[in-house]
Amino acid sequence: MNSVSTLRDLAKKAVNLLSRHDFARIYTHYDADGISAGAIISKALLRAGKDFQITFLKGLNDFEPEDGELQIFADMGSGYSELMSKIDADLIILDHHKPNGEIKPKKGFVHVNPHLVGIDGTYEVSASGIAYLIAKELGNNLDLASMAILGAIGDKQKFFGINGEILRDSVSSGYAEVKPGLYLPSGNLLKALKMSLEPYLDFYDKEAELYEFLKKIGLDVEKEVDDLSLKEVQKLADAIALRLLKIGAYEGVFEQVIGKKIFLKNLPVKNAICLVDLINSCGRAGEMSTALSILFGDEKALKTGLEINEKFTTEILEELVKRKKEVKEGFCIRYLVMEDAVSTSPIATIFSRYLMPDKPIVVLNIKKDGKVKVSARATEKIAQKLDLAEVMRLSALRVNGIGGGHRVAAGANINKEKIEEFLKEVDRLCCAMLA
Ligand code: C5P
Repeated sequence: MNSVSTLRDLAKKAVNLLSRHDFARIYTHYDADGISAGAIISKALLRAGKDFQITFLKGLNDFEPEDGELQIFADMGSGYSELMSKIDADLIILDHHKPNGEIKPKKGFVHVNPHLVGIDGTYEVSASGIAYLIAKELGNNLDLASMAILGAIGDKQKFFGINGEILRDSVSSGYAEVKPGLYLPSGNLLKALKMSLEPYLDFYDKEAELYEFLKKIGLDVEKEVDDLSLKEVQKLADAIALRLLKIGAYEGVFEQVIGKKIFLKNLPVKNAICLVDLINSCGRAGEMSTALSILFGDEKALKTGLEINEKFTTEILEELVKRKKEVKEGFCIRYLVMEDAVSTSPIATIFSRYLMPDKPIVVLNIKKDGKVKVSARATEKIAQKLDLAEVMRLSALRVNGIGGGHRVAAGANINKEKIEEFLKEVDRLCCAMLA
């Protein structure tokens, strides 16, 4: 039996366990993949006549297990075997983080994770992809593939293997459309190039350079991205490739930016990357229920979400301009220590993929309560040798913190007084892995 059908069997087992319950408590991560996974599962449960309660979590460090009802953990859980073993309830984990340790369940338990069946959960399927596999076993839920596509994009995955299948499902049932184009947000061209976080083109505080950039290729600044002709798209693609080279972006970014654009016809924002940005900013702003309502088609939530997105994107772009000079060099890493900043994840991602791709980057944010949120990122090229999830897990453990994630994108939570020791250990482990 191949690994995909084994994963499907696990999804079927999850449906069996679900069938014994009329209610489920869903815990999911607060990013685009987690929110999409939560939306898929809750919609599928509603359609199956079941009730649910959904809670969005930044992580599991302060999580207190509850007993009783069926509990579903989405986009989290696999790496936290001790905590999961304490749950005295039927339990389903649908996650794509690398499992760590053995989970000893107290009651019924199904663990659906691609890593358990030899499938790469970093690139080939995300938590929302797993949620979709379960939803597909639960009923006629082909339309929910659109949300699995959002999760995959949010986690910078690739559309081959299971993700490829999910995209094909969605295209063949008429919910998604893949068009040649540029991976750019919709809307006014000037604004899209200036404000885009992915791809990040470093034009935010360089408007004169941006005008010059567009003038050189003869494009009208007032044009809408989606109205560009194929010839104009090609011209813009060439110019963007040069711009990425100029700012020193990671070579893997090029194939992601240039080539195709996914439109999701059954979701309230059709351009998939715009919707991913929107969902992510709502999550980062602590407005996860707004994000969920957007995915459920609530127009008022969409209006609120767009305002949140505009504010969040501006704050991140401002932060990047301000922080660029504050990035410090370790031996094998770069690091940035911020205080009370808006978010660590997009800052770390942009430094790692666009501005300083040659070393792993670790971004720390000291919050008012003395707790520190850490986001670490490395390019796929670096991650061939180095596993950031392990680096974060071990370094956090050393300072009584908690950490984990994926090879290319990981994180940790530690205390302020341990920053120096933590960074030293991160650098040491990175040097050891890269040697
Ligand atoms: O928060 P951030 O986007 O940087 O997290 C990157 C990855 O690290 C996510 O997949 C998240 O679940 C994981 N992580 C973790 N344990 C932590 C913090 C983050 O597994 N303490």
